[in-house]
Amino acid sequence: MKLGFVGTGALSSAIVTGLKSLPGETTPVVVSPRSEEIAADLAARYADVRVAADNQSVLDQCDAVMLAVRPQIARDVLRELRFRPDHHVISLIAMVSREEIAGLVAPAAHVGKALPMPMIARLQGATIICPPDPTVAAFFGRLGGVIEVEDQSEFDALTVVTATYASYFKYLDTIHGWVRSQGVAGDKTRAYITSIYKALANAPDTAPDEDFIHLSRDYATRGGINEQVLRELTERGTFDAFAESLGRAHQRIIGK
Ligand SMILES: NC(=O)c1ccc[n+]([C@@H]2O[C@H](COP(=O)([O-])OP(=O)(O)OC[C@H]3O[C@@H](n4cnc5c(N)ncnc54)[C@H](OP(=O)(O)O)[C@@H]3O)[C@@H](O)[C@H]2O)c1
Repeated sequence: MKLGFVGTGALSSAIVTGLKSLPGETTPVVVSPRSEEIAADLAARYADVRVAADNQSVLDQCDAVMLAVRPQIARDVLRELRFRPDHHVISLIAMVSREEIAGLVAPAAHVGKALPMPMIARLQGATIICPPDPTVAAFFGRLGGVIEVEDQSEFDALTVVTATYASYFKYLDTIHGWVRSQGVAGDKTRAYITSIYKALANAPDTAPDEDFIHLSRDYATRGGINEQVLRELTERGTFDAFAESLGRAHQRIIGK
């Protein structure tokens, strides 16, 4: 496989970095010249990464192509390009459906969507792909894992998970801020929170048969402080408000 990227920004850079961190990895990669700095940096870091003269040249040199330009310009960029029927196209472009991309990259027949995350650079965080595809699944499977979904609606619903990162860190920041307000040093507090939440992140793997709500109950010892905080947040509608926000993020993702 010769792999190309149209749009060499943060996400393309993360994928190439993750890919090239794999032992013995020699897949030839061609990146488009924008961003100039990121493309040059990748080519300088990895002997088998080349910068193409333009977007069309990426396509002409590759059989698998990841589309990674911003959604706002995607249609204009893709309309100018000539794809081949044998191109394997994987769109990373958020908010543009697989069907629309398929129309824009015709006659390429092999068209899918993928949602990698920047932590793919460290081989962490699974990539959602749609539709299931053994080649694409094998590729992302080595870079932090893959979740294959059958249709766009599943893909869109799972995409909502990615809208929760900022709130997650705000949640940790709230804990941090409160402990700090009691006079505890910031670095000690940060180290403790980080260590505990890393351990909690492992809980679903160590108890694979338990749903999240069961894990929540496991930790909510009757009469204990976990039960208290959970009850108070629940009674104030915190989780209902959160779920409503997820619904609104979903509406944006599906373009409503
Ligand atoms: N980053 C994420 O966490 C994430 C997650 C999921 C999906 N996505 C999707 O992945 C895509 C890329 O995201 P990103 O974060 O990598 O964005 P980004 O850092 O802004 O990268 C987009 C790149 O496209 C380049 N570009 C602009 N015009 C171009 C053109 N005509 N031809 C080729 N390249 C051009 C930009 O170069 P210049 O700087 O020179 O303009 C920039 O390097 C987006 O569609 C986004 O929705 C991103």
